Amino acid sequence: MDKFVIRGGNPLLGTIRVSGAKNSALPCMAAAILTEDEVILENIPQVRDIETERKLLTSMGAEVELGYGRAQHRTTISCRVLSEPTAKYEIVKTMRASALVLGPLVARTGIARVSMPGGCAIGARPIDLHIKGLEQMGANISYQHGYVEARAERLKGANILFDKITVTGTEDLLMAAVLAEGETVLENAAREPEVTDLAALLTAMGAQIEGAGTSTIRVQGVEKLHGARHRINPDRVEAGTYLIAGAITGGDLCVTHCNPAHLGAVIDKLKECGVRIDILGKDSIRVRSEGALKTADISTEEYPGFPTDMQAQFMALATQADGVSQVKENIFENRFMHVQELVRMGANIRIDGRVATVRGKTPLSAAAVMCSDLRASASLVLAALVADGESILDRIYNIDRGYEHIEEKLRGVGAQIKRLGNVFSDRRETSATVTV
Ligand code: UD1
Repeated sequence: MDKFVIRGGNPLLGTIRVSGAKNSALPCMAAAILTEDEVILENIPQVRDIETERKLLTSMGAEVELGYGRAQHRTTISCRVLSEPTAKYEIVKTMRASALVLGPLVARTGIARVSMPGGCAIGARPIDLHIKGLEQMGANISYQHGYVEARAERLKGANILFDKITVTGTEDLLMAAVLAEGETVLENAAREPEVTDLAALLTAMGAQIEGAGTSTIRVQGVEKLHGARHRINPDRVEAGTYLIAGAITGGDLCVTHCNPAHLGAVIDKLKECGVRIDILGKDSIRVRSEGALKTADISTEEYPGFPTDMQAQFMALATQADGVSQVKENIFENRFMHVQELVRMGANIRIDGRVATVRGKTPLSAAAVMCSDLRASASLVLAALVADGESILDRIYNIDRGYEHIEEKLRGVGAQIKRLGNVFSDRRETSATVTV
């Protein structure tokens, strides 16, 4: 299993480029199910979850070309033939976003079988709201052998009010609605930029959608969709992670190819911490940390609030601020897996239910730590960048799920980070004796 070896202490200086958003690319790839024509997606990130989605689509009979060139990362998907409309357990268990194929599959083929996702590291994460919405659209739902099966000759438009805001739930039902008969109204819908990105692709494919990016989305179903070419949004979580990397190391970093408009809550909190942020043009942000970091409290919320996907990284920063910061996690019930590892590195953090209280500034000391999930891993990378000595991060396949070439990008701005092992792609170090 690959590991990262990180020696802390270097301020990050220079320019770091953000890749396409994994959480936009996944639903956009699933949207290709809705048409017999080719869908071409550009700015696809080279991360493990995208490989998993490719496997998922090809296991159903689709043809998926995935190319990572220097200038262009692109996938071309043809779902002309969908001989096996099933998301198998082996795939769903490694990537819960596989449930995103439920809506488009039943809309296009009249039948969808998706393995029920079990528990996961950051909480239960059920898909009951996806299923309830499909039922309201007239799908017959049954459960067998750990799978949910949805059947419908043609889905019918419905008024769907989400009990709780769900990002992939909104995306799944949006994809179901575009081919349904009549009008569907999704209320209390997620407003995340990834939903808007998906709606832009669906519109380019011939769908009729109004209100994406607001909490009420109206869809007029159409008979058929056609192929399209679409460029995936920049990854706001990757961008936010690098902003914190610049701030925590006392660096001067220019984060490029991002969308500052999607990062409002994160930028506001960094400013509250005394970090200097300058927006440069439409797609770059300069981050500088001059002097001591101040504390700030965060409370995770749906977009446009502070993203749960940035909570763990922010907590690493809070360990380096003078005073007490409170971090409240409202979206997932078990998303403090990074805390015990940060504490092993010297952080002073106490958890009480959904609130973590961080007392800083504590010097961090390098340690061997375990990456439990994607964003927890990013938090440990950030902590290791300022820790005294050489940290070893285990189970970094979790970080490979969502961060493209993170070690190369960080090395490019002065971090001492190396990969040990031989699992993911051809850009690794293979020697077990590498030190940094
Ligand atoms: C997506 C993101 C993930 C992010 C999360 C919240 C993708 C691929 N993943 O995950 O990175 O952390 O949004 O911003 O885009 N819930 C239910 N029933 C459902 C669906 C959700 O109770 O049917 C609950 C969940 O358990 C959770 C909350 O709703 O407590 C929000 O989850 P949701 O927005 O659905 O997260 P994901 O879409 O899985």
